[in-house]
Amino acid sequence: MGFPISHSLSPVIHQQFAAQTGQEISYEAIKVRPESFDQAVENFFHAGGQGVNCTVPLKELAFKKADQLTERAKFSGAVNTLKLMEDGSLLGDNTDGIGLMTDLCKNLGLSLAGKRLLVLGAGGAARGILGPLLETQPECLFLANRTIEKAQKLKAIFAPLGNINVSTYGDLLGEKFDLIINATSASLSGKVPPLPHDILAKQATCYDLAYSKKPTAFTLWGTDEGALLSVGGLGMLIEQAAQAFYIWRSVMPDTQSVVNKINTADGH
Ligand code: ATR
Repeated sequence: MGFPISHSLSPVIHQQFAAQTGQEISYEAIKVRPESFDQAVENFFHAGGQGVNCTVPLKELAFKKADQLTERAKFSGAVNTLKLMEDGSLLGDNTDGIGLMTDLCKNLGLSLAGKRLLVLGAGGAARGILGPLLETQPECLFLANRTIEKAQKLKAIFAPLGNINVSTYGDLLGEKFDLIINATSASLSGKVPPLPHDILAKQATCYDLAYSKKPTAFTLWGTDEGALLSVGGLGMLIEQAAQAFYIWRSVMPDTQSVVNKINTADGH
């Protein structure tokens, strides 16, 4: 469920997981406006539905709708996966953070312990990934945002998991980072946050949570600044889907074959 939803790759991804693991599923994109979300969820489960993925702008509403929440969903303040439990209650989970970590650490082979990390943006997308990033024991985790109060709020929420250095974009001048993750929505309008030059360490990675067929403004910025790797979020999208599939079906699908198929279909 999402709004808009027509461009979602999730139905294709889940059908491929199902075919690969021999699971019989029906997974369809449903356009749901925020004001009719509660009713749409009730209708869906009443009609025999077993699980729902929610995307923007419904994740915070799904958080409120769930009867029980996982720890990681509580920290995220958002739910992207609802599961109907045996007792009829709705479990809310958030697989975005683990999806990103799997792509970074398993697929891209990065090790974040002792590294200098920077997250751009302090909205819902940033909140979904800060917990697992702090758990990797980085040397430091900076959080930069135009509106500094929003970053300070996230710093306070995540204080039990570790320290976050809040910064404006301009104040990043002179710092060096091994990994920069773009969690702003600036890419959607073809923009890059106003970052200073020369903030990439040697062999740095730039990662845009946004996925598009073409390089994003941010991944292009990373390449221009000399990043060893500058990629969009297709891997994260597929990995978060795999985790949701596992929550519903207790079977972990192979993700690499799906990444390859989508890249081929896109003409990469
Ligand atoms: P999401 O749930 O996708 O994170 P959001 O909560 O609306 O969406 O947050 C969008 C984030 O992108 C915010 O951090 C926003 O910065 P502000 O908090 O200062 O508004 C950031 N953002 C959007 N457009 C931007 C731009 N052109 N330059 C820099 N940051 C931008």
